[in-house]
Amino acid sequence: MQVSIEPLRLEDARAIVEAEDEQTVRWLSEAKSTVEGTTEFIAQLARDAERGKPKRVFGIWLDGTFVGTIDFDPDVTDGLEPGDVNIAYGVAPSVRGRGVAARAVELICATIQERAVGKRAVIRTDARNAASSRVAEKAGFVHLRDVHITTETLEDGSPVVMHVYGRDLT
Ligand SMILES: CC(C)(COP(=O)(O)OP(=O)(O)OC[C@H]1O[C@@H](n2cnc3c(N)ncnc32)[C@H](O)[C@@H]1OP(=O)(O)O)[C@@H](O)C(=O)NCCC(=O)NCCS
Repeated sequence: MQVSIEPLRLEDARAIVEAEDEQTVRWLSEAKSTVEGTTEFIAQLARDAERGKPKRVFGIWLDGTFVGTIDFDPDVTDGLEPGDVNIAYGVAPSVRGRGVAARAVELICATIQERAVGKRAVIRTDARNAASSRVAEKAGFVHLRDVHITTETLEDGSPVVMHVYGRDLT
């Protein structure tokens, strides 16, 4: 199994849409994607990067096939500390459970380190998203703390809890 991460290209838009399921929408993208909207999203990312924004999105490739996305963004600050670089990811349902996400996280940590983007990689994951927490643990992250999200509540009125995981890169 060969996993690699490559900078996202406009022509990856269709593969992103095809790799999406209800879990991706729930935990990552927040809305169902279209090829047109995703193409514009990728173009906007490139324009933002040209203007100096630090967020970078990569395609995850498994044995030559596009199977998901992973990004880093040091501009995410909610629940984080200066020097933290937030990582988020999604993998197509057909290849889940084979270690693809954990390997992609290791690869993006190496990229963050090489480019000296920040001091610590962090993953914030909803406490209900056990698979994502497991990815963080498998990639060598340690649980730092839990934070309560104030903008969302569970059905019983209790706050949504996010686990924050970190891995030092220095
Ligand atoms: C989270 C996600 C990226 C994991 O991708 P993946 O390639 O399957 O991840 P890995 O195979 O590296 O690891 C998944 C781990 O979670 C475990 N897992 C999967 N579903 C689980 C569940 N419901 N409860 C507990 N553990 C679960 C797997 O068994 C595996 O652990 P193991 O290797 O110890 O057996 C994928 O499920 C996904 O795209 N989900 C939707 C988007 C998302 O949640 N993104 C995270 C936002 S930060």
